[in-house]
Amino acid sequence: MKLLATISLSLSLLALSNSLPSNDSAIIDECVKCGSVNCLVSRMSLQDKIAQKLMPDVQGWQVGVAPGGTCSRFPPDVITTNSEVDTYLKKYKFGGVILFALNLRDTAAGIRLVDAFQKSNAVNNKIPLMVSTDQEGGLVTRLGLGTMFPGNMAMAATGNTGYTSQAAGIMAKELKSVGIQVQFGPDVDVNVNPANPVIGARSFGDDPAQVSLNTAAYVTAVQEQGTVSCAKHFPGHGDTASDSHSSLPLVNKTRSQWEAEDLPPFKAAISAGIDMIMTAHIQYPNLDSTQLVSAVTGETIYLPATLSKTIQSDILRGELGFKGVTITDAMNMAGIVQQFDPVDAVGRLFTAGVDIALMPIPVNCAPKIDNVQLVIDHVIDLINDGTIKMKDIDDSVKRILKLKMKYGMLKLDDTPVEDKVAYGLANINTAASKAAEKQISDDAVTLVKNDPETGIPFKTTSQSNVVIFTAVTSYTSSFTSIMNDLNADFKFSVNSFQGNVTYNDTHKALIDSATHIIIGSELGANTPAITGSGVIDQGASTTTYRFNFPRAVLDEAIAQKKPVVLLSQRVPYDIGYYPDAPTSVCIYGVKAITNGVYGMPNLKSGISAILGITKPKGKLPVQIPDTVGNILYERGTGLTL
Ligand SMILES: *[C@@H]1O[C@H](CO)[C@@H](O)[C@H](O)[C@H]1NC(C)=O
Ligand SMILES: *[C@@H]1O[C@H](CO)[C@@H](O)[C@H](O)[C@H]1NC(C)=O
Ligand SMILES: *[C@@H]1O[C@H](CO)[C@@H](O)[C@H](O)[C@H]1NC(C)=O
Ligand SMILES: *[C@@H]1O[C@H](CO)[C@@H](O)[C@H](O)[C@H]1NC(C)=O
Repeated sequence: MKLLATISLSLSLLALSNSLPSNDSAIIDECVKCGSVNCLVSRMSLQDKIAQKLMPDVQGWQVGVAPGGTCSRFPPDVITTNSEVDTYLKKYKFGGVILFALNLRDTAAGIRLVDAFQKSNAVNNKIPLMVSTDQEGGLVTRLGLGTMFPGNMAMAATGNTGYTSQAAGIMAKELKSVGIQVQFGPDVDVNVNPANPVIGARSFGDDPAQVSLNTAAYVTAVQEQGTVSCAKHFPGHGDTASDSHSSLPLVNKTRSQWEAEDLPPFKAAISAGIDMIMTAHIQYPNLDSTQLVSAVTGETIYLPATLSKTIQSDILRGELGFKGVTITDAMNMAGIVQQFDPVDAVGRLFTAGVDIALMPIPVNCAPKIDNVQLVIDHVIDLINDGTIKMKDIDDSVKRILKLKMKYGMLKLDDTPVEDKVAYGLANINTAASKAAEKQISDDAVTLVKNDPETGIPFKTTSQSNVVIFTAVTSYTSSFTSIMNDLNADFKFSVNSFQGNVTYNDTHKALIDSATHIIIGSELGANTPAITGSGVIDQGASTTTYRFNFPRAVLDEAIAQKKPVVLLSQRVPYDIGYYPDAPTSVCIYGVKAITNGVYGMPNLKSGISAILGITKPKGKLPVQIPDTVGNILYERGTGLTL
């Protein structure tokens, strides 16, 4: 019955439209109105179908570069639109656009920017843009004034998936209120490798079952808000010792290890009804052993997962039965561009069956606008020579348009922009969302070890002098403003050891004068200091101050029997490098002050727990190895006070 109805509807539209050009706007309007994706696709030109599968960024733009001119590598940030961006978005009927932090630094400006992009697109394109961003929560958040929450690993540390749902729902609602329909989250990678430089605290942990539970909670909550959730990075980026932003990592797990470790959260996401999955730029030879010689480097590499038909079509769609939309990780990342020409890479990812190319080719000034046509023409060539089947392109565009239809994206939101701004401002960073953020963050603080004499809570008086050392200079103002916020009624100082700072007598004098010491450690963000086996590589690293400086402070503090806390600022693995620290606390992430706010709530929660304002309740969501790889702390470790 349903089939018959669709056929008769399409037939009547065909009768109406046979003599009209295939992209006639009135017909497209009709197709949108009657909700027939098949009809819509049947009226689109091949050029426009391919453009529907492209999702560029518009982060920087250098205005006024003449044809043939050279564009700056660092063009000004796009905070408001301009006539050249307008031309760019009118010229190609893109399926979507991704926004970054610089586009969204200010909420009102971000809302106006999204509105302007949609209006530029709408001049020639009847199909509105799908707007996306990475608002994972925690370390990866783009909405400058949005609620950041403490991040996946912190949420997992609370052991309460209700918190994951609550945070994910609020973030999805905030995205929607600024006109962004796609949340590039959750990160569902299982962080089994302590030396993973790019996932770390973005992960829910190293236990596939716990990651799966949190994944399902997150995905459901996002999509209940009418925002698309995108799980990433398929087939799993949790066991890499290098970053796909700077290289092409290789994961040498067997197929059965993959099934046991990386796969479960993706299955959980699919069971929860996830509508989008993002690829990983990693080599995974036991999933696809195809090798090729890179045209750029001449190296023999395994086909990256992003470009693998076996992984993206046969496994993800065939074996796992995923019916939603797939999207690549950003195609400008080194994992791809170091090894492939960008135009070739887009051809390969569409050949592999991926639906959307994210940031297919860099465009940041007028002379580069036509580079998009090179991409489209290449894909057309691949269709003409039979490498890509036309039916596969049509099916892919249908998946994209069905997603747009499901989430109401086929209709342009014509609310006046000032009303959108007012709505967005009223719905972002509300008192209720900040309260939820604080609660989750406070409950995530994990006390791994506590010295009964010198541990936490610090017993401070007005005579106390709390000396804080932090690994990153830009965090000194975060610590300072938090101590001020907490009305610390004692003396404190914040000292950074970033750079090639060597412990010396000035630092010793600070310790001599201290009554209490906090060492903010951040080894994990800086993996040159840690080898893949989890052993500190002191020789090769130029950044060992991150390890050596805290070591020296700790030695002196222990010698003087001073209360000292090792505060692991980012990934919790740091505590494994200082097993003799009398007291160790994990907070799973810090961000420097931006927009005058310190963003992530974690640091304030950590200090609150150290000072006894709140009580730590978290449990480690990962196991912590020592420096030779033995387990020092089991997953689930966490003391309560
Ligand atoms: C689509 O419409 C434009 C503008 O009317 C026209 O120039 C173009 O030829 C049309 N494309 C196709 C494939 O009909
Ligand atoms: C993967 O591991 C196997 C078994 O240890 C080894 O023989 C092979 O060389 C490894 N492959 C790569 C690409 O590292
Ligand atoms: C110790 O190092 C700090 C930071 O590099 C420097 O400012 C200070 O002058 C040094 N003190 C001594 C006694 O060398
Ligand atoms: C750091 O300081 C040490 C000792 O002063 C010196 O040998 C080393 O070259 C410095 N490293 C860098 C990267 O500046």
